[in-house]
Amino acid sequence: MATFTKISEDETPTITVNSKHVLSKINDNIYGGFTEHMGRCIYGGIYDPGSPLSDSDGYRKDVIEAMRELRVPVVRYPGGNFVATYHWLDGVGPREKRPRRPELAWIGVESNEFGTDEFLNWCEIVGTEPYFALNFGTGTLDEALGWLEYCNSDKDTYYANLRRKNGREKPWGVRYWALGNEMWGPWQVGQMTKEVYAAQAYQWAKAMKLLDPSIELILCGQDGTSSWDTYVLKECIKWDVHGLGGSTTASLIRMHSIHIYTASKEHLPNATAPKSAERAIEITAGLIDLARIENKVPNTVPRQTICFDEWNVWDPVRAPGEEGAEEKYTLSDALAVSVWLNVFIRQSKHIGMANIAQSINVISPLMTTKNGIVKQTTWWPLLLFSKYMRGHTIAVHVRCSEYEGPTAPAWIRGTIETPWLDVSASLNEAGTTTTLAVVNNHEHRSFSTQIEGVDGNSIEVYTVTGKGVNAVNTEDKEEVGIVESTWDGKDLFEFPKHSLTLLRWKSGS
Ligand code: AHR
Repeated sequence: MATFTKISEDETPTITVNSKHVLSKINDNIYGGFTEHMGRCIYGGIYDPGSPLSDSDGYRKDVIEAMRELRVPVVRYPGGNFVATYHWLDGVGPREKRPRRPELAWIGVESNEFGTDEFLNWCEIVGTEPYFALNFGTGTLDEALGWLEYCNSDKDTYYANLRRKNGREKPWGVRYWALGNEMWGPWQVGQMTKEVYAAQAYQWAKAMKLLDPSIELILCGQDGTSSWDTYVLKECIKWDVHGLGGSTTASLIRMHSIHIYTASKEHLPNATAPKSAERAIEITAGLIDLARIENKVPNTVPRQTICFDEWNVWDPVRAPGEEGAEEKYTLSDALAVSVWLNVFIRQSKHIGMANIAQSINVISPLMTTKNGIVKQTTWWPLLLFSKYMRGHTIAVHVRCSEYEGPTAPAWIRGTIETPWLDVSASLNEAGTTTTLAVVNNHEHRSFSTQIEGVDGNSIEVYTVTGKGVNAVNTEDKEEVGIVESTWDGKDLFEFPKHSLTLLRWKSGS
């Protein structure tokens, strides 16, 4: 959480941070990824058997290394829109027997060369947890139950034995399962009304939990500000006692998924757009509470959280999905991603998981080429946050002037503030180190700022910036990266124009 006092442009800004004011745990899963059968994400991304850069299973070694460097804790799969016509059985067993199928989400052909076991094996190599989305378009409940059995069962039953036959004795233990993806969308095969969706989701959830009570189910929401969200939460967040041993703490649904992509051609609307996600999180958290109150869910049932399982900067006109959505990210986009990450830290109380869409090649900070990997501008804030913004959110107050121009969407103005300095702060798990993240979105002005609560005289400084907001990274040139320095903690700290800065110091030193 951050609070804000607006001052005039000519006053000196102040940021006040206190490492004792611990607010909420930052779930590591906010640094989640997403790999969809779309464009070059799977084929040519994580799986590239023809490449000299791949291992003997066809996995790109440089991608594995990058995912490890980013410490990605969880990865969503296999879609996205792709999942609405995906039949998991097509993608297991001997490769030569797997059917090639028309693919309707991105209008292509799916070879099924890469499927459940290949993905789960990749997750084990990377050291990340899988998160599966179920086919609510052309799929059936039987199929979904079969997939869960295949992945998680240690019993002597048909699909568990099929997994063994395919070479995997031990269950894979997939904990997270999404009840469909964007089923409200007119582009979705099998688009549903909220009424039909809620009824189906609830019944599928019940059956899935009966088969494996240890799983965590994620409800398909919209963007957190819609009547779809309101309705499906009300229908599905209940006190679920039936069939679950009569437990008074049972709930079928653990998280509610929402998706938002932000983008604008203009720098300031672009960089401030993730503030809409912040307001959406606040609204969704209210809707979750409303459902719990109206349905009389006792407080022994843990409060459901938000699974922001698609977020990023994406303009689908600029980078169409059918063409692989290979966005070329600028410094402006890196600042937008920094604001996105500040939002997740500030709102950590409500966020159970967040997944950048996507992890490789498709609207991604990481691009594979024949020769290696390109780290786009957006990679650097993601890396800094994943490395340093873990543990707990701590309270921070910012006094500064505000950007007052147009926003995208327009409704940001009047519902949430857009200070020039966008801030969040964290205290690491051990309680020893405080990190302050500050995005200065101003294109032309640095801000010399008083920082109250900073300790010590050798503060680590990490800066992400570039020559201008249109700077990009390509295979030949890296215009945006991380510059490391130190600060003596005295006087004012200057946040450069169009930059992200992380300040790190030992708490209480
Ligand atoms: O991430 C790209 C696409 O965006 C996903 O497939 C879909 O869920 C969303 O509309």
